[in-house]
Amino acid sequence: MTMNLKHANILICEDEATAAQEAADRFACAAVRSVAEHGRFCVALSGGSTPKGMYGLLAEHHSFVPWYQTELFFADERCVPPESPESNYRMIYDLLISTVPIPEVNVHRLEGEMSPEIAAERYEQEMHKVMGYDPRFDMIVLGMGSDSHTASLFPYTPALHETGRHAVSNYIHKLGMHRLTLTFPLINRAHSVIVLVTGQAKAETLAAVMSGDEDMDMHPVQNVKPTHGRMLWIVDCEAASKL
Ligand code: 6PG
Repeated sequence: MTMNLKHANILICEDEATAAQEAADRFACAAVRSVAEHGRFCVALSGGSTPKGMYGLLAEHHSFVPWYQTELFFADERCVPPESPESNYRMIYDLLISTVPIPEVNVHRLEGEMSPEIAAERYEQEMHKVMGYDPRFDMIVLGMGSDSHTASLFPYTPALHETGRHAVSNYIHKLGMHRLTLTFPLINRAHSVIVLVTGQAKAETLAAVMSGDEDMDMHPVQNVKPTHGRMLWIVDCEAASKL
């Protein structure tokens, strides 16, 4: 099977700043719509460097988002304490959470400081507590690594084939460490998924993902396919330069 541009919903932006703006606008619109439709906005955010611009914009223009009704989760986490410079929670806290008026109880952290198995189980319980046993995010914001991983679903790792769990610990051989991650069955239940990819360094990977043969073990991000939701790639011209 091939996955080519014809089938992907892809927005190509002039530059990284425009891509960040588009992603922030979509986040704000989804938040307003979700709150109008069912009283709250359940969202999961990714770490990495790509979404930093988007988070900065959301912090700067925070009055456009109904933060009080937002339930904020994380797509993945490194197994480090929350104060570590490696922590996704810390990055998102510093850029966004610390500035916006979101109640503390609405921020649901993956506990990277705990044993990975226990942290994943506790996170599932937390998602079930907030969203029920069949959790469905209103929006999930993902990135893509140069090896085409997304969240902490890395090539050729066991978590790629998870069919039952909603969050797992995943051992990443090449990093020599565990990560905590949402799973595909949960990601693909979302109402809306954004995959934000910018920069020349991602151009070859993006071209391989979009036009190469479909191989979920080699290109995990290809398995992001919401079954009853929308998916949008937001990329900049540099990342799109080899499409
Ligand atoms: C993380 C992520 C991860 C990220 C990609 C892209 O914790 O690193 O959530 O999936 O989105 O690795 O990372 P960059 O944006 O830094 O390229």
